[in-house]
This record gives sequence, structure tokens and C-alpha cells, in this order.
Amino acid sequence: TLMTSAAIMVCAAAATAQTVGFSQIGSESGWRAAETTLTRQQAEERGIDLKFSDAQQRQENQIAAIRSFVAQGVDAILLAPVVATGWDSVLEEAQEAEIPVVLLDRQVDAPDDLYLTAVGSDLVHEGEVAGQWLVEKVGDRECRIVELQGTTGSSPAIDRATGFRNAIEGHDNLEIVRSQTGDFTRTGGKEVMESFLQAESGNEICALYAHNDDMALGAIQAINEAGLNPGEDILIVSIDAVPDIFKAMAEGDANATVELTPNMAGPAFDALEAYWEDGTMPEKFIQTESTLYTQDDDPMAEYEARKDLGY
Ligand code: AHR
Repeated sequence: TLMTSAAIMVCAAAATAQTVGFSQIGSESGWRAAETTLTRQQAEERGIDLKFSDAQQRQENQIAAIRSFVAQGVDAILLAPVVATGWDSVLEEAQEAEIPVVLLDRQVDAPDDLYLTAVGSDLVHEGEVAGQWLVEKVGDRECRIVELQGTTGSSPAIDRATGFRNAIEGHDNLEIVRSQTGDFTRTGGKEVMESFLQAESGNEICALYAHNDDMALGAIQAINEAGLNPGEDILIVSIDAVPDIFKAMAEGDANATVELTPNMAGPAFDALEAYWEDGTMPEKFIQTESTLYTQDDDPMAEYEARKDLGY
């Protein structure tokens, strides 16, 4: 039978289009929403067929999604792992099926031959950058710090806590007086900050360290409602660099943030394309930058630059 050359090209493209399963954690934060948007965009631009699965914060849903991707015979799997442990068996199943897995933004406690590469930031370093900023900002003053941690058992919660402690170690005027998880959400940040303020009433809280901007934004509301001035009475440093934290910085309600790029998919697809092409093995860790932004960095310009990126 006769085929037009256009039809032949369509068939050829359909035959070679790669299919990638993406097991996403959920939509706990503005940062996470932007990562999802950018992953979809990157896939579309590259002609990759993306199968998206939202785990609603549950590891068991992620494991089920990976098993289903393996059963479908996808060409690769992107995994943003909600917690660090418990991945060995499912990663072995993907490996047996010869499906490369790329980790996005969070790390796993598993042998690194079980995945092709991991794209992400140095999460300990992020905490150190935040802590160093605070050390310099407070100088010799006594500073009682409260900490809003990320999801318990997740690598960013573990590593950002470690990094911050590394930075304040040896500065005896800085002390973490309360620390609790706010699950990386705004509502979690607000509720836990309310309880911190209540528990510490009468004692001065000098600073809040939040493992992400969304929790800081929730906490800002709680601080305002308690009749205090966020950004002045309580210094606020967090991580992500979402548009709303720059707005809060411009309004004087937040002080500093450490940027985490939501474009993890770009480097991940670059690595996969090279691997599919001729078996090129990427580095085991593809590291993204961790830039500090403060109120001196024209926060409104930073807000404008990010506001349409899918956060
Ligand atoms: O794993 C990255 C973290 O997860 C982001 O900092 C946080 O906002 C997200 O929920």
C-alpha cells in the first residue's frame, strides 16, 4: 500500500518516541508544583511521552506506580522519592527489567548501582548556606531559633537539619530551642508555628529556620496573627526561592532563601537521551546550584522572573 512521506515520518516518530514514567510525590509545595509543570513541559518539548503518577505523599503509591511502569515496559522512570529508605526491592525490579531510573531532587538510602543518576542539590550544603546567613546576621546577639522541618524521613529534612546545625556549631549564642515537622506545607508551617509561639510565649524567638518557603509563608501568617513582625521581631530564613517568598521579602516579612531549581527534568532528560542514544553513562550525581537570596537582592525582580513558571 502507498504511504505519503508525511505519514511515514509520523510512523517513524511514533515508533521511536520514548515513554517515561514519572512517580511524583504529590503537590505539597509551590516548588513541587513547579517541578511537575516543568517536567511536563520538558517532556513535551523533547517529544517524550510522559506517564505521570501522583503518589499523594505515600511511598506505597510510589512503589505501586513504579511496578506499573515496569509492567508497561517504559523506557525510563523518574522518581522523586518521598522518603529516603525502603526502595531497594522496587529499584531491583526496575533494574532486572533493564529500565533506567533517575532520581529527582531527593536522595535514597540504597546502593547507587540501582539507579542511573540522581539530579538534585547538595541538601546538606543548602542547610549550611541558610545557617551561615543567620550566623552573620545575628552576630554576637543571643538567638533562640525555632525550626520547621520537612517531611520526616525525607532526605531534604534530614540533610537540611544537618547542614544548618553544621553552620551554627561553635556559635554558642545561637540555639535551636524547638524543632518539629510541618511536612513541607503552608498549613503545616502555620499550625506548628502557632504552637511554637504559644509554647514560647514570654520567651523571645529570634529566628525561624524553615526547610522550605511554603512552611515559612504559613509561619509568617501565624507570626502576624500573634501580633509580631515577621522579618523583624523574628528573622526568617528558608529554602526553595518560590515567587511568594520574594514577595514576602519585598514586604519585609521574610529575610533570606536558598534557591532550589525546579527544573530537575532538564538535566534528567539530557542524561537519559545520551544514554538511549549510545549507552553513555552519566555521573551518579548531577548537582544543581544553591544560591542565597536576601532582601538586598531586589526581591520584586526575582518575584517577576519566577511568577509565571508554574509555581
Ligand atoms: O525535595 C525538595 C523539597 O520538596 C522542596 O524543598 C520542598 O518544597 C518540596 O516539597
